[in-house]
Amino acid sequence: MHINLTVNAEALALDVRENETLLAVLRRSGYFGVKHGCEDGTCGACLVLVDGTPANACVTLAAQVAGRHITTIEGIGGEQRRGWKGSEPLHPLQQAFVETGAIQCGYCTPGLILAAKALLDKNPSPSEDEVRDALSGVLCRCTGYKKPVQAIMQVAGGKEGGAGHSSEGIPCEAVFGTPPVPAPDLLPGAQPRGPSTATSVVMPTLVIAPTVPNTKVVGKPEIKVDALKLVQGKPAFTDDIEMRGLLHAKVLWSPVAHARLKRIDASRARALPGVAAVLTYQDIPRVVYSTAGQSDPIPGPLDMFSLDYKVRYAGDRVAFVAAETPEIAERALALIDVEYQELPAIFDPREAMQADAVRIHDEPEYVPFDHCDPQKNLAASIRIDIGNVEEGFQQADRIFEYEYRVPKVQQVSIEPHVVVTWWDEDDRLVIRTSTQVPFHVRRILSPVLGLSAKRIRVVKPRIGGGFGGKQEVMIEDVAAHLTIATGRPVRFEYTRAEEFFTARSRHPMRIRMKTGVSNDGRIIANEMVALSDTGAYGCHALTVTGNTGHKSMALYNAPHIRFYADIVYTNTPPAGAFRGYGVPQGAFAVDAHIERIAREMGFDPIEFRLKNAVKPGDEHPFSRVWSEGREPVPEIIKTCGLEECVRQGAEAIGWYEQRAAPYHVVAGKPHLRRGLGMATVMQGTAIPYLDMGAASIKINDDGSFNLLVGATDLGTGSDTVLAQMAAEVLGVPLDDIIMYSSDTDFTPFDKGAYASSTTYISGAAVVKAAEQVAAQIREVAFRMLAPNSSAEPPFHPNEIALRDRRAFAPDGRAVSLADVALESLHRSQQKQIMAVASYVSPESPPPFAAQFAQVLVDTQTGEVRVEKLVMAVDSGVIVNPLTASGQIEGGMTQALGYAVCEEMTYDERGQALQRSLNDYKVFAANEMPQLETIFVETYEPSHPFGVKAVAEIPMDGVAPAVANAVYDAAGVWIQEIPMTPERVWRALAGK
Ligand code: FES
Ligand code: FES
Repeated sequence: MHINLTVNAEALALDVRENETLLAVLRRSGYFGVKHGCEDGTCGACLVLVDGTPANACVTLAAQVAGRHITTIEGIGGEQRRGWKGSEPLHPLQQAFVETGAIQCGYCTPGLILAAKALLDKNPSPSEDEVRDALSGVLCRCTGYKKPVQAIMQVAGGKEGGAGHSSEGIPCEAVFGTPPVPAPDLLPGAQPRGPSTATSVVMPTLVIAPTVPNTKVVGKPEIKVDALKLVQGKPAFTDDIEMRGLLHAKVLWSPVAHARLKRIDASRARALPGVAAVLTYQDIPRVVYSTAGQSDPIPGPLDMFSLDYKVRYAGDRVAFVAAETPEIAERALALIDVEYQELPAIFDPREAMQADAVRIHDEPEYVPFDHCDPQKNLAASIRIDIGNVEEGFQQADRIFEYEYRVPKVQQVSIEPHVVVTWWDEDDRLVIRTSTQVPFHVRRILSPVLGLSAKRIRVVKPRIGGGFGGKQEVMIEDVAAHLTIATGRPVRFEYTRAEEFFTARSRHPMRIRMKTGVSNDGRIIANEMVALSDTGAYGCHALTVTGNTGHKSMALYNAPHIRFYADIVYTNTPPAGAFRGYGVPQGAFAVDAHIERIAREMGFDPIEFRLKNAVKPGDEHPFSRVWSEGREPVPEIIKTCGLEECVRQGAEAIGWYEQRAAPYHVVAGKPHLRRGLGMATVMQGTAIPYLDMGAASIKINDDGSFNLLVGATDLGTGSDTVLAQMAAEVLGVPLDDIIMYSSDTDFTPFDKGAYASSTTYISGAAVVKAAEQVAAQIREVAFRMLAPNSSAEPPFHPNEIALRDRRAFAPDGRAVSLADVALESLHRSQQKQIMAVASYVSPESPPPFAAQFAQVLVDTQTGEVRVEKLVMAVDSGVIVNPLTASGQIEGGMTQALGYAVCEEMTYDERGQALQRSLNDYKVFAANEMPQLETIFVETYEPSHPFGVKAVAEIPMDGVAPAVANAVYDAAGVWIQEIPMTPERVWRALAGK
């Protein structure tokens, strides 16, 4: 049918199908700022304004809006940086989002801004509650909403335009160049490091270490390097491309949990007009591999095939289809005839270990790793003994033993997994994909596709969140096989339901803790025995569960430690990597257990923790015995700000003042009880002696630099902090660093975004490359500033200082970096000033944190409402307080879901019960507690700027802190999360 409508003041006449959604029509018309995140109106990524009113384009038919005015993000701000045309102002909301750090991955940003615009157009001075209500239909999985709400309040408060506009867009200096404001509480001898807060942003509290050097770009709340394109909805994501001849892929998923394919006949599907290819296991090579995006060799079994004659969970792959439209592909799926020979299925990991349990992996191609035993359904097992734990228990005065249970949960990146593949003009396969690990994608898929790595190019555009879920190579082969089969470009994207029933998740575990303690409060022996469910495939089985003990138990330096774990196969969707990577599971068990021991022995829980926690100078308790299946190397913990974190966090939440008052009681509401809880946690920073990052830097004619990294910014801001480090070394503002990540053809190798490694590992590589470029600049500048140096050089090139875009001789004379570039590129002794460097770390310095929670428990219903979360973190030096605090706020929010509401469950046939964001609760803007972040800086000497990791640690402490607060409020120990009203009510009722 034909319709007319107006999009952003442009009149459009369009032919649309009767059942075509407004989302599909807008995107195929080039409005890529309208995003896809679900199919049922639950995420808000597709939000547009229809005659000024918010509407979800995915559940609005294009035909319904004929004759109406549609506003998308592309329609609300001016063009930026268009040469002689100059820039037009951004919309004040866009400007405020950029300034306040409200954008992480940016996938939800158009929806949030348009929802806010609709509100402010009707109500220019809303309250914060009204703002949060207006945003409640747009889910953001990255930010925790604090900064988006602040951005909107800033505009509502009359600060439209923020710091003003310029012909070259947003002037960083004007935004952030406010006078330095000292951090409110400095460690003894500490100095504020330049501006630490600005008028237009809300900064986290920064407690700056005395050893942190003064820097100009590092440590500053710089605007994200990708913020401008994201806030304008530019076509930056994987799916934001147009491609002639594009086919649409769909997968036939297994309806049963465990079966052999007795017969599969795709002839009817292949005959359907519009179908380009149907592939079954009979059509492609049988190559065993692992989907785990890890360095070579992958520390886990090879137990997966692109397509197999056996299915191992409801949602496993059966066949691939490529067709001219998604609808034809769907119809083709229904025409594939499959006869399943059902096998007994295992859904309980305890059953998987029974001697008579059915074998889930009986394929002869299975390649074990380390202690795999597919005969016993064991994807991995871990046996670590430090000291002699049995002797330790005998020496202890008291022994405490409890079991804890943690659920399977989903990453829920708002951008689903999506990939587009095509042959380029050189017959090389291009894979444009939403991945955390582009280089691992290329290496892992090479044998699977029968292509050498040199014939594969992987391009990683902007990513709409990953959280570990995209550290998995599980969509790229589908599109790639179909491109190989058809010769045509193929697009494949998970639906939201597919994200739930076939993608990866966090390993659910049962964890038994047994701890021996002396009467003077020393932990003598600490034992953890974990049963971890990896689902149908063993991707990340060993390494995730290894971290469960390695990083959470290591916080307490007992002389006798045991960590045993069995990681078993079941007929459920595979678990995999998820932010925190096994540590949130262990941290819940360890910290809830520690709290209970302290309370039962009559110790102050904080003092008990700190008395037993590792200290600077201690050897990492696990470093001699565990290194993810590789040779362990002893490691000393050089920096630990845990005590200060506890002090700062306690002060911020009012730990001692509140306890002095009757804070449990809510006046007039005897059924409500308030409680305070805390937890202490540690994580790791990268994987030592294994994971490598690299960077390449070259100078341009105008003295700017291209910085190319293989590191993968998922919205975390890693591109920005890497560029900040380069800018610091090269003496230029951030704006002079042209950042690009990542493309296996053009950027140097990087292991990818996982293990909290980018700022530390890739950052060190960037600094090395920048220092080499700086040395080359100094050589050229020396020739320019000391031309007659053949006699007695007046100074050495090393004495030249780089700052303010210039190279300064010791006597104050200077040449600009633009002149240095022109001299080197065009005028004399020509050469390209450039360098490539890589870095692999011999250590993994742990970040530490104290997490505090204030909760309200309804003792009649069991409902737990978290009122406030405070996290004080030692992540070393903070390179960008805005992006780093965004990481903490977003991480705490995800962790809060883990604590109180998120859980994936299955029926008795293994069918996923959560298939939509209606069934799986993700926190919305109007449901959030107050969030507060404090950075307690230490200077980690193993990194050139003293950094440690920040991205994963906020996942670790919220669940135990909330559980401990529930005990404080209501006197019941919660040993299983999420703390749903039913679980808490049962605990209160003693059931
Ligand atoms: S609400 Fe439309 S894509 Fe999710
Ligand atoms: S910034 Fe909101 S989903 Fe990523």
